[in-house]
Amino acid sequence: MSEEIKKFKITIDGQTTEVAPGTSILNAARQIGGKSVPPAMCYYSKLENSGGRCRTCLVEVSKGSDADPRPMPKLVASCRTNVMDGMEVKNLTSEKTQEARKAVTEFLLLNHPLDCPICDQAGECHLQDLGYEHGVENTRTEFERNTYDADDLGPNIKLNMNRCILCARCVLVAGQLTNQREHGILFRGDHAEISTYLNKALDNDFIGNVIDVCPVGALTDRTARFASRVWFTKPVDATCKCEKCSGKAVLWMKGDEIVRVTARKDQYGEVEDFICNECRFEKKDAKFWNIEGPRHISRHSVISLNHYMKSDEMEVQKLENETAKEISNKDNLE
Ligand code: SF4
Ligand code: FES
Repeated sequence: MSEEIKKFKITIDGQTTEVAPGTSILNAARQIGGKSVPPAMCYYSKLENSGGRCRTCLVEVSKGSDADPRPMPKLVASCRTNVMDGMEVKNLTSEKTQEARKAVTEFLLLNHPLDCPICDQAGECHLQDLGYEHGVENTRTEFERNTYDADDLGPNIKLNMNRCILCARCVLVAGQLTNQREHGILFRGDHAEISTYLNKALDNDFIGNVIDVCPVGALTDRTARFASRVWFTKPVDATCKCEKCSGKAVLWMKGDEIVRVTARKDQYGEVEDFICNECRFEKKDAKFWNIEGPRHISRHSVISLNHYMKSDEMEVQKLENETAKEISNKDNLE
């Protein structure tokens, strides 16, 4: 008879859940859901060894475990720290965490060109969301920002290195989804940059997925660049017969025109099923697709505004906001 695995109890911002041993704090928070889920710019559940690079997911562990209740001395990266039984974590309710996230945001924006008005990722950019939530109005830096020329990585992908936060998700996609990785992070420290080795084009079948995993506008689709602001397009779920991938995609439509094709993403902006280059870049005609219906973009985003947010989901979001506020007020009073 198989022995039942004992689950670990964890409390995050006052909400308790049980998870399997080996679960990270971030995934435990995702299991609870709502506003207590820390942001994650480099962790990606579909990619092995992701996480630990951006520090946006820092949280405060106020109780290590039932066995050793001492708090952890420093904030920890929730994507890389596993749950212990009886652990208590503060995210929204921790002033230290909020301060640190503000500092991380400032750091990630150190060399960023702040060119949202002309960036194709605007409206679905995780750094933009982070900036709105934790950014400061003024810069404290006096040195010149790093600048790079925009680079074509093959016929379909554009690299704007000045927007890159070096999360390495694209490198992991190339290493894990394709059989010939031709790009990586070159150099060190503030000279580090994403580049192709020997300027080779990235042209293997699944490399287009680097665009979907990039949390910022560093990697964009050359077949869709500047075609439309994302909030002027309507996303629809569609499938096609494809021998290479699942053929499940989202078509971003402007009238009858397919402006862009992407993979379907979950509420944390992570791809559900990676799609091949042919579906992404070459099937820009409705005749290839079987349209299933409107895509509900569950992330809190301008894309959802006035589009497909159902009234009951808006109610849920409102309740989540209120609960988070209550928890935070309660914690401040204590
Ligand atoms: S290009 Fe995008 S996905 Fe790649 S390391 Fe930079 S930010 Fe991450
Ligand atoms: S998401 Fe945890 S360090 Fe980046």
